[in-house]
Amino acid sequence: MGILDGKVALVTGAGLGLGRIEALALAEAGASVIVNDLGSGLDGEGSDEAPANDVVREIEAAGGKAAAAFGDVSDWEDARRIVRQAVDQFGDLNIVLNNAGIQRDGMIVKMTEDQFDSVMRVHVKGHFAMIKHTMDYWREKSKAEGGEPLYGRLISTASDSFMMGNLGQPNYAAAKAAIAHLTLSAARECQRFGATANVILPRARTRMTMSGPWASIFAEPEDGSFDAFAPEHIGPLAVWVASPHAANVSGQLIQLWGKHIRVFAAPTAALDHENEQPWNVDELQKVLGPFFEGKKPIEDGFALPMM
Ligand SMILES: NC(=O)c1ccc[n+]([C@@H]2O[C@H](COP(=O)([O-])OP(=O)(O)OC[C@H]3O[C@@H](n4cnc5c(N)ncnc54)[C@H](O)[C@@H]3O)[C@@H](O)[C@H]2O)c1
Repeated sequence: MGILDGKVALVTGAGLGLGRIEALALAEAGASVIVNDLGSGLDGEGSDEAPANDVVREIEAAGGKAAAAFGDVSDWEDARRIVRQAVDQFGDLNIVLNNAGIQRDGMIVKMTEDQFDSVMRVHVKGHFAMIKHTMDYWREKSKAEGGEPLYGRLISTASDSFMMGNLGQPNYAAAKAAIAHLTLSAARECQRFGATANVILPRARTRMTMSGPWASIFAEPEDGSFDAFAPEHIGPLAVWVASPHAANVSGQLIQLWGKHIRVFAAPTAALDHENEQPWNVDELQKVLGPFFEGKKPIEDGFALPMM
């Protein structure tokens, strides 16, 4: 018996990298898996049906159930069709792991409008479109079943890049922040169906991390020591969040790499003050002047330290 026996899962961007690992792990745990992928390059250009078809074959060869759903998650109609395919082909949709993503890094002064828009489109609109069509289906299903709680798991993929305000990734950091907050809002809304929504923040070796300035950090260790960034470490997290173990886990940001796991707490106010007078510049200086004195720019700000 697998922990996800009888469940239907959909993983976006599952032809390569982390999505592939997550799709394999969910299938191994017993879920029937819709393998979505556009087969694009890292920059979102091009398309290829081969990666999704290969992952379906891999799952089937291991004795699992899967079907390919070629398409672009940021295209409204493609997203609707991909969700529909899960229901038509496997009879339901319980787990939606939004993972598809692209990367087009650059400093703000060099960034083009298209570089910004394409990253926001694939990540933010892609997550929203899949969440929207899934929740439409859950709403219909919940009504048809008299409001009985259903088995629903939305899992989004962010990155701690957004909490670092990563240098050279203004588009990606903004998109990942938007994904985190979209998912927190979805968590409140899908609670009414008995469903959960959580964000995972993986760190692993894929073409994405091997193409940037961090390639040496993510590379496989040459001395045979523990491979902390092997993408296979992410599979169990996808399964756990999708599983009955996490029935009461919602609105969380969970980061994992190697043997390390972190759950982020809600942001806290470093200063929380009610003034006796209404604010003017002098009053603000009286309170903020001493508070910021001695604090370093950026380092003592909201952002986490860079990796
Ligand atoms: N690798 C890491 O350490 C890391 C860290 C933090 C977050 N992430 C996030 O994890 C996710 C997966 O990244 P990865 O490292 O496996 O990258 P990857 O480039 O190996 O895989 C991304 C997959 O998404 C697919 N894709 C791209 N645009 C698509 C679209 N519009 N519709 C459908 N499929 C599309 C690609 O074809 C590809 O198969 C991304 O959201 C990424 O931002 C990765």
